[in-house]
Amino acid sequence: MSYARIAGIGSYLPEKVLTNKDLEGMMDTSDEWIRERTGIKRRHIAADDESTSSLGLEAARRAMEMAGVTADELDLIVVGTCTPDKVIPATACIIQRQLGAKRCPAVDINAACSGFIYGLDYANRYLRTGGASKALVIGVETLSRITNWEDRTTAVLFGDGAGAAVLETSDEPGIMATHIHANGEFEDLLQTQNGVSLGFDASAAAGAFIEMNGNAVFKRAVATFDSMARETVADLDGHLEDIDWFIPHQANMRIITAAAKKLGMPMERVIATVDEHANTSAASIPLAMDLAVRDGRIKRGDTLLMAAFGAGFTWGSAMLKF
Ligand code: UT7
Repeated sequence: MSYARIAGIGSYLPEKVLTNKDLEGMMDTSDEWIRERTGIKRRHIAADDESTSSLGLEAARRAMEMAGVTADELDLIVVGTCTPDKVIPATACIIQRQLGAKRCPAVDINAACSGFIYGLDYANRYLRTGGASKALVIGVETLSRITNWEDRTTAVLFGDGAGAAVLETSDEPGIMATHIHANGEFEDLLQTQNGVSLGFDASAAAGAFIEMNGNAVFKRAVATFDSMARETVADLDGHLEDIDWFIPHQANMRIITAAAKKLGMPMERVIATVDEHANTSAASIPLAMDLAVRDGRIKRGDTLLMAAFGAGFTWGSAMLKF
């Protein structure tokens, strides 16, 4: 059985930036409150003529360029997103057409903020069992489209963006382990109240926008980051000291620091981009990884631990050699 490795990584952020100062003019909030409680300074927002597929496409192109892989070589496209362009077809199919990857299967996974890790897990299994030899995994969101700009408790937290990875088979890992989980008991803590079968009305009053019990989600997130990181490392008979870089989902700097502290992981080995990107859900981990690869922090051969937590609740981790 072969392994899967990340051959290329890419990301894309919309040009438009919304700062905390900008938000001060839109709602009863302050730059100071947002920075202190979340670490967020600014976020990128998709323009009217941009979409989840257009963001994902650009990130995919950059990852494919790094990997030296062309569209006709792709055997599988997986898109982690909870903000697809349309109900049907899948955003993965729209990106497939735009890339010109004519034959391969293409599917969306909605695991909210854990979407990229779920996608990695899915693609890794295809590559390891001979079902594919080159796969494109994208994490992409336009959360601004389901943000209630009149709700200061959520509106300051989210941003838009995309990250993508090209996986290819390899004789050596690559991806050493993935673990994914879910517990639907916590549906009410982080959700949109309507959607498709419960109603199409895209307004805050109808419940189409993100609602969250921030405190409860915060506590769960910290505890889960700790337990899942330990689960993955222990499964490989490894040690947290073996990890060169910890790349957690970027929801809140306080969650990231608390999780790193619990794990005894020095902040110098943690990739944090939440200050610049805010919470981009499924896009946050590949976006953070791409940034750190391109600025030279993450190098080939480094061991990475990724961990995500989001609505569902869903959570998942991946340990890999880049
Ligand atoms: O992607 C995974 C899912 N997301 C997360 O992981 C997010 C998890 N939660 C969090 O990051 C934090 O809970 C928040 C950043 C959302 C909130 O921080 P907090 O420290 O839990 O604050 P809080 O909700 O307890 O609110 C404290 C106060 C409240 O005022 P009172 O009731 O004490 O008078 C809020 O009304 O801060 C107020 N507040 C704000 N003030 C200014 C809430 N949002 C804002 C705001 N600006 N934007």
